[in-house]
Amino acid sequence: MSQTKEAWSSRMGVILAVAGSAVGLGNFLRFPGLAAQYGGGAFMIAYFTALLLIGIPIGWAEWTLGRSGGVRGYHSAPGIFHVVMQTPAGKYLGMLGFLIPVMVFMYYVYVEAWCLGYAWLAVTGKLSAGAHFGAIFASYTGIAQDGTAVHFGLESVGFWLVICYAVNFYFIYRGVSKGIELACKWGMPLLIVIALIILGRVLTLGTPDPLKPSQNVLNGLGFMWNPQDVWAGLKNPELWLAASGQIFFTLTVGFGAICCYASYLKKKDDVVLSCLTAAAANEFCEVGLGGLITVPAAFVFLGTAGIVGMGTFGLGFNVLPAVFAQMPYGNFFAFSFFTLLFLAAFTSSLSMLQPGAAFLEEGLGLARKPALALLGLISSFGTLICWWFSKDLKALDTIDFWIGTMMIYLQGFILIIVFGWSKGMGIERGWREAHEGAAMRIPRVFKFIMQWVSPVFLGIVLLMFVLNSVFGWNFSFARPHFAPTGRITDLVGSHHSDVARLAFIFILLCVGFSVLLMHLAGKRWTANPLEKQP
Ligand code: PHE
Repeated sequence: MSQTKEAWSSRMGVILAVAGSAVGLGNFLRFPGLAAQYGGGAFMIAYFTALLLIGIPIGWAEWTLGRSGGVRGYHSAPGIFHVVMQTPAGKYLGMLGFLIPVMVFMYYVYVEAWCLGYAWLAVTGKLSAGAHFGAIFASYTGIAQDGTAVHFGLESVGFWLVICYAVNFYFIYRGVSKGIELACKWGMPLLIVIALIILGRVLTLGTPDPLKPSQNVLNGLGFMWNPQDVWAGLKNPELWLAASGQIFFTLTVGFGAICCYASYLKKKDDVVLSCLTAAAANEFCEVGLGGLITVPAAFVFLGTAGIVGMGTFGLGFNVLPAVFAQMPYGNFFAFSFFTLLFLAAFTSSLSMLQPGAAFLEEGLGLARKPALALLGLISSFGTLICWWFSKDLKALDTIDFWIGTMMIYLQGFILIIVFGWSKGMGIERGWREAHEGAAMRIPRVFKFIMQWVSPVFLGIVLLMFVLNSVFGWNFSFARPHFAPTGRITDLVGSHHSDVARLAFIFILLCVGFSVLLMHLAGKRWTANPLEKQP
């Protein structure tokens, strides 16, 4: 029972840690890209609807379940579900809360390494020299050819990847309060200060090129935020899927990470307000900072053409370096921006490792060191695949789709059902438990939302997502039409991609391995429950 001694050292600490998990690359790259793509206004309506109907309610459920499992001695989603639900199926329902964070870490850390490496390139002036941004992007990420990113010098990703692995594992090794909490206590305020400095710069850019008067800051903000035809936008199911997916990704709900973090709380620690505070911090960073920096800056220097169709990574690592190169003190701002991205990614990736570490410790009875060694081994397989098979970022993209997008919906769905409907918890008990030690009461309507609206809304989103993104449904009931998407044709048929197949097989292997681990953990937990007697 030695693992149960870990705890957060302060209320502020846990909020910053959850906010650190939430604020990540999604806030500064993914969100602005999506909002611009779907035309500000309509997207934001769907986005805030999803925040209220699934983001916050599932967040409360996850915090409550986590604390509940934690006081009973378990810290990973499988363990928490096992002890809360009191059935052998519990651990399998919680399995994704182990698998998702570990597998997302595999590629997230690779992108984290780009951030750090780009910050270095900015310091040395190499990022702006020569202005071959496309070439830097291609060689750094290996997006043009498999195997080309595998180098170890200071100017390629390998070196920084090793550093990122070392730093992440070191902080996890130090433990919840001495590692994660410490990193987030310093990292988060620093991140916000840097973001405010960059924001100040972007908002005062004016009209840098007098020959192109329309490329000014106001138009840049307008490009992103002016509502286009809101009604037409809201009628587009794709927009709703994108907005809901972003809410999940950005708040980190449905990964198993919050569950794990909340399990280090004490019985009477507030979860209601803590969840809201962390979500508010995330929204501030996403809408208030991320939404005002990336896209407007790109617009001012490059116009619409520079932004459209660049994709999340293209925007961050291809477009923005070109933007910084045109600014006075560009190297300084580029360095600041990529440091900001690194901090955001780092505090997030910690929250992907902790659930895995906690599970290996309590499920297999491993001590911290062997648990981390095993975790490092498993995740480095995936990272190597993403790193070597980098052409079109195919391997990364395949894992991101099946695990980092689809499975999150599924895990979120399982979570809210367990919270609202399972025998061990259920809405009445869940509602009561959520309010234990709470500084405020949740408005009553949310009891209904958590029990009915969130699962139904999310169930529909999940179904539509699978039908559309996997089976290629055209969203029409009157004339339904299905044409298998690239997700399917990548795997089967004559145009398949060997890399996508490999990544998919790797996913299946990881799923199989997780099932085995769940089985072993279950045996251990039944024979020798970690449960604390009250
Ligand atoms: N919320 C993070 C972001 O916005 C992503 C993340 C995913 C963090 C999974 C933790 C776990 O980038």
